[in-house]
Amino acid sequence: MKSAVENISQSTTDLFKAEHKESYAAWLQYKNIDDQALVNEYKQWCGTISTLEASVVIESAKKELTLGISSMLGIEPNGSSEPLQSGIVIATKDTFGDLADVDFDQLNDDGYVIKAVTAGDKKQIFLLGKSHSGALYAAFHLLRLMQNRKSLQQLDILENSKNQLRMLNQWDNMDGSIERGYAGNSIFYKDNQFFEELNRIEDYARLLSSVGINGIAINNVNVHKVETDLITSSLLPKVAEVASIFRAYGIKTFLSVNYASTIQIGNLSTADPLDPEVRQWWKNKAEEIYSYIPDFGGFLVKADSEHRPGPFTYGRNHADGANMLAEALQPFDGIVLWRCFVYNCLQDWRDRSTDRARAAYDHFKPLDGEFHENVILQIKNGPMDFQVREGVSPLFGAMENTNQMLEFQVTQEYTGQQRHLCYLVPQWKEVLDFDTYAKGKGSEVKKVVDGSLFQYKYSGITAVSNIGNDYNWTGHTLAQANLYGFGRLTWNPDLSAEIITDEWIGQTFGQDELVKEVVSKMLLKSWSIYEKYTSPLGVGWMVNPHHHYGPNVDGYEYDVWGTYHFADWQGVGVDRTVKTGTGYSSQYFKENADMYEELETCPDELLLFFHHVPYTHKLKSGITVIQHIYNTHFEGVEEAEGLVESWLQLNDKIDQERFNDILNRLQGQANHSKEWRDIINTYFYRKSGIKDEQNRKIY
Ligand code: GCU
Repeated sequence: MKSAVENISQSTTDLFKAEHKESYAAWLQYKNIDDQALVNEYKQWCGTISTLEASVVIESAKKELTLGISSMLGIEPNGSSEPLQSGIVIATKDTFGDLADVDFDQLNDDGYVIKAVTAGDKKQIFLLGKSHSGALYAAFHLLRLMQNRKSLQQLDILENSKNQLRMLNQWDNMDGSIERGYAGNSIFYKDNQFFEELNRIEDYARLLSSVGINGIAINNVNVHKVETDLITSSLLPKVAEVASIFRAYGIKTFLSVNYASTIQIGNLSTADPLDPEVRQWWKNKAEEIYSYIPDFGGFLVKADSEHRPGPFTYGRNHADGANMLAEALQPFDGIVLWRCFVYNCLQDWRDRSTDRARAAYDHFKPLDGEFHENVILQIKNGPMDFQVREGVSPLFGAMENTNQMLEFQVTQEYTGQQRHLCYLVPQWKEVLDFDTYAKGKGSEVKKVVDGSLFQYKYSGITAVSNIGNDYNWTGHTLAQANLYGFGRLTWNPDLSAEIITDEWIGQTFGQDELVKEVVSKMLLKSWSIYEKYTSPLGVGWMVNPHHHYGPNVDGYEYDVWGTYHFADWQGVGVDRTVKTGTGYSSQYFKENADMYEELETCPDELLLFFHHVPYTHKLKSGITVIQHIYNTHFEGVEEAEGLVESWLQLNDKIDQERFNDILNRLQGQANHSKEWRDIINTYFYRKSGIKDEQNRKIY
């Protein structure tokens, strides 16, 4: 018998599926195809689904194909365990090795081949994975093609994932709240217990697997008292249940752990990583966890940062702390994801030698080579904190002998909190394509984090998720594109933003040309629009303290000493040069260090991140800094208003719910952008006393 709570929560998901169908389905719409010729073509290939082996992952592939085919074509495919008739054949190297002309050696663990073969009347599509997950990714790939109405006749595809670890981090707390969550509450927890709505978690797993995600940390990096218990026998059975849902979609489960667990739940008086009792406690703990979850991924750790405990308390360093956990996980092939978001949040900002931007490099670079091989350093894309624009973290490429992983933020903490449209794929692409020069030209971040530059044993890309229990998952329906884009880019950082965007629109909204054109333009411009009316030229942080939404020019929370960006009557910006500033610029390899150090070569968009300049300083465009601030803020508002206009063209082309939801958000954004414009422009007008050349109304 199900409990009453279970019945109610179960029905919430069912209700969403029934009453918010399109919003909930996200990009797995599987809309009925009305082009009869295409339906006829597809039917020839899709009448049977043969699975040559059995596993939960293969079962998911079959389930998803059956769902997609029946919904798009209106036929129920037959099941078979022989590859004899026309239809789709799902198999792996193990069962298929000799049956087809496929070179499995060209595939990495998650790679796959999709091949259409016609022999007489027989038409078969082979979905062949190196592993079971590979076969599942092939199934999702095929469905993506069908949703985008591609012909299947000549399919001959070989795909490998570029990154080994492709992860999401849920910042979900067990009380049901989500740190930096903008789409409702957690789908994992409620009232300090696991939420019973497991089919919601399964639908999430489907979305993630469809874009190639293969790992998930299911609790917040800030591990409070209650979540510390996730690694105890009281909660591990539930963690195991969730892990089994993700497992069926090729996704490994990880937990964020409290560094001081030995004290909080282990009855020890210390968490010193060199203490033998502490080490033994973690070894026993790992053994216990693996007895519940044999393929458990490992630990995600935020230590010695923003008041979290860590090895510093015992005079130890980050390598000591991480290695102690790594040793415990090693017998089970588990890994430690050790975050580098470490800085002194109580520093005195007048002391220019303690620049927050320097902190991660200063702490970790000297430890290169000291971490165990199953530790990965998880590094935020920038040295600060997911600002709309900041430099790329100089740690990338700086540690040849230490596994590295990149952390993005899909949840829009500083980029409009899913009330504003801010499609982040273009921003992420800039980061991935940034050349570190670590081994000379061509040492892009993407090559560091895919492990190829230094042959890391483990590496990849992770991100803070943007979903919650809202019926459309992401608050702003268009923010679904960020989750989709993150997965696709992490699978292959060389995909262009345009391709990812088109794929997403086709699956989410269908094939109407106007819809495709309009939505694509809106998404691709949105980061630049958001940047224009918020903080200028890379300076960042002009948001309300703590909740990080809305303009507040002097609002940096830790800045009790004055303004963070040092704006005064003469100029603005943070001097991070070696000559006169914090010296941060020297953390980059020479080519970049030189470029950022000099005013002449520093790119405009990061000018105030690296330099303090007079308002009258001329940008490369010939426009002064102050005039640039005014211009971009006026433009940003006009363009935000333009987003509303663009969307209105699609009135009869999109279901009413999604149309209205998005319209409301865009209208809210356009209004809010005016507040941003007025506050920022007024502030700088008052500071500088310099008028707008065009005499527009500033305040
Ligand atoms: C940001 C964010 C915090 C979060 C932290 C982190 O500072 O505002 O909520 O805990 O990043 O990444 O650990």
